[in-house]
Amino acid sequence: MRYVTTRSLLSPERGGTPPASVSLKTAMLEGLAPDGGLYVPESIELWREAEIARLPERTLTEIAYRALRPYTRPELDATIFEAVVAEALNFPIPLVEVEPGIYALELFHGPTLAFKDVGARTMARLMASLDSGDQPLTVLAATSGDTGSAVAHAFHGVPHTRVVVLYPDGRVSPSQEAQLTMFNSEDGNVRAYAVDGSFDDCHRLTKEAFANGDVRREVRLTSANSVNIGRLLPQMVYYFHAVAQAAKLRPGAEIHVCTPSGNFGNLTAGLIAKRAGLPIAHFVAATNVNDVVPAYLESGLFEPRASVQTIANAMDVGHPSNFERMRWLYHDDLQAMRADIDGCRRTDDEVRTTIRRVYEERGYLLDPHSAIGYMGIKAHLNGWQAGQAGLRGKDRIGIFLATAHPAKFSEVVEPVLGRPIEIPAALAEAVARPRHVLKINASFEAVRRTLTT
Ligand SMILES: Cc1ncc(COP(=O)(O)O)c(C=O)c1O
Repeated sequence: MRYVTTRSLLSPERGGTPPASVSLKTAMLEGLAPDGGLYVPESIELWREAEIARLPERTLTEIAYRALRPYTRPELDATIFEAVVAEALNFPIPLVEVEPGIYALELFHGPTLAFKDVGARTMARLMASLDSGDQPLTVLAATSGDTGSAVAHAFHGVPHTRVVVLYPDGRVSPSQEAQLTMFNSEDGNVRAYAVDGSFDDCHRLTKEAFANGDVRREVRLTSANSVNIGRLLPQMVYYFHAVAQAAKLRPGAEIHVCTPSGNFGNLTAGLIAKRAGLPIAHFVAATNVNDVVPAYLESGLFEPRASVQTIANAMDVGHPSNFERMRWLYHDDLQAMRADIDGCRRTDDEVRTTIRRVYEERGYLLDPHSAIGYMGIKAHLNGWQAGQAGLRGKDRIGIFLATAHPAKFSEVVEPVLGRPIEIPAALAEAVARPRHVLKINASFEAVRRTLTT
């Protein structure tokens, strides 16, 4: 598979010239295309119906192999790719019934208890397998908390790679800092640095490093942020796996999926899976009040704006990067997008009420992001528009993606429930361990030293 940039495809000036294409390795190592666009696969291979019908017989790693193989062929040898998915997806992704007809696809059973583990772990192993440089590859990432720990865990122990994570000192939660710094004391390949500054400082410093010719000559730098196609495509696996499990539970039922969204990478992966032939009848794009995509679906106007802080803070995105990939997928056709996707937005108060109610009535504990997913699918199945007949009772099944473990957001969930919640053993252990914090000042010189020594 070759990869092309969204910008050249969407640009009206291009005329009939086919866009220049790059390999998966180049697309992954570059992250962003030189024209500022995002890399997308040149084509989407259609699944045969017989293969779709056999999904319920397959294991998670078999599904992952089949879903992603078209995007790694012929660059990566089949046996090596098989090992990549087997190592990356070594934890379960259960589909759990929350109430009749509504299921949570629990994506939080990986090492950092969030859905990012799937994309980050697959990307880490893909990079290591595709890269043949003599010098180790250094992944540089700025984080406000979660992404850094998923990347650190994903690359930990991966040969020929090294990770430098910058996070704002004193501005991540204790459990996030524990997960970020847990590899610092080892003689390993991951270092997380507490920068004396804000997340914006960390972000600026990584940008300076990427733009600095001397650093680039000395160190082979790459990024691992969420616009990287190597992190996006593995997320297709969630949807194939959800359909496989739903078909076992309710054969023949029509499947509707809600994805709690911020930067829209996860939803885009689902839409690509649908384009490949996966039978998902309809998607719901659910956001917090940072609702530029739901607003676009209503008005046809895409109006990015500064983000507003919410309690589902990983979705506080005012200018979602992957919207550009959604436009590419639908050739900028609003009606076509509307035919596949409904938008939905929910406020912090609604999130709190839902977490409390679902726990009291169903005994199921949602994190704030998953709560938005739950509300999105429930409203969709009930038919929220005036005059629209409810969709329930027509043998339809609703799935929402549960993107984080509630313990990761205990500071929100505990006051809502009015009591402490259970913390998974791995997280409790990480938090209890003595922390080896490496502090640096917010200067480029300090960052350069972390990269070159
Ligand atoms: C817990 C959680 N839920 C949902 C999202 C939104 O995912 P996306 O940015 O792919 O839309 C994120 C993104 O960081 C997240 O961390």
